[in-house]
Amino acid sequence: MAEQWIGRTHFDQLARKYDCYRMLDEAPVDYIIRAINRTDQSICDLGCGTGRYLIALIKAFQASGVVVKAAHGVDTSDGMLKTTKLEGDIHHPSINWVLASSDRTGLPSQSISLVTAFNSIHHLPIPETLAEVERILLPNGFFAIYTRLLEQESEHIWGQWFPRYSEYSQVPTREVMSNLFEHHEYIRLVSAQDFTFERKVSFTWICEQTENKYYSTLGRYPQQEFETAYSAFVENIKSNYEYLDKITYPSNYSIFLYQLAS
Ligand SMILES: C[S@@+](CC[C@H](N)C(=O)[O-])C[C@H]1O[C@@H](n2cnc3c(N)ncnc32)[C@H](O)[C@@H]1O
Repeated sequence: MAEQWIGRTHFDQLARKYDCYRMLDEAPVDYIIRAINRTDQSICDLGCGTGRYLIALIKAFQASGVVVKAAHGVDTSDGMLKTTKLEGDIHHPSINWVLASSDRTGLPSQSISLVTAFNSIHHLPIPETLAEVERILLPNGFFAIYTRLLEQESEHIWGQWFPRYSEYSQVPTREVMSNLFEHHEYIRLVSAQDFTFERKVSFTWICEQTENKYYSTLGRYPQQEFETAYSAFVENIKSNYEYLDKITYPSNYSIFLYQLAS
């Protein structure tokens, strides 16, 4: 089920600081650029947030000589989109920011060559969004999903040391992603890749990110349980990392690329 989006969302509250605390991975952007061989693109990014991946994608396409004919950033958080517009208006006046849910983008049928969803698939209403993607994609168009998988969650620093983190997580399993379009005759998985990034952070940074619940999973804990788990997390970090100003941990993600038939 999609999260209720009428009114102020979790992401509206985070919007102003979101980009300071979430790292932008270039590898999935490069992967998309290399995997898709077209001279022009019309892009729609679902759950675009502040638009950081959409902007990175546009820049990367343009740098490799691809013409970006249209770009749409779709999100249900007015706060995230407003943060986007501040930057977007300056650097990318051509982006169309759409306050809408991923299952009702309002975009014309068969108008998009590339739909993307970076770190957002677990927030979206899945069957309805897949139908919408199929509707808006051009023949031969691609849908790229970049996400952490449930199997990868337990290796992440919060998954490892924050009690019950994986249980509260809603990210999909590898099996779900591999069979995402099993009931759709015309879309199939064409490739997938796993990535491991070595994150280097400080204890202060981790605490700030946790307290502000920059991962929506942390926002799903009842407050009392969150506080108890947070205390245990702090103790776990202190006793398992020698240098608290230089904490290193692996962060795993995967990309899945699906294509609509011609
Ligand atoms: C974790 S953020 C990812 C933002 C961005 N893609 C990034 O990686 O920086 C998830 C985003 O999905 C948005 N979202 C949640 N439900 C949505 C829906 N039904 N349709 C569109 N966007 C949605 C949230 O508002 C939020 O901005």
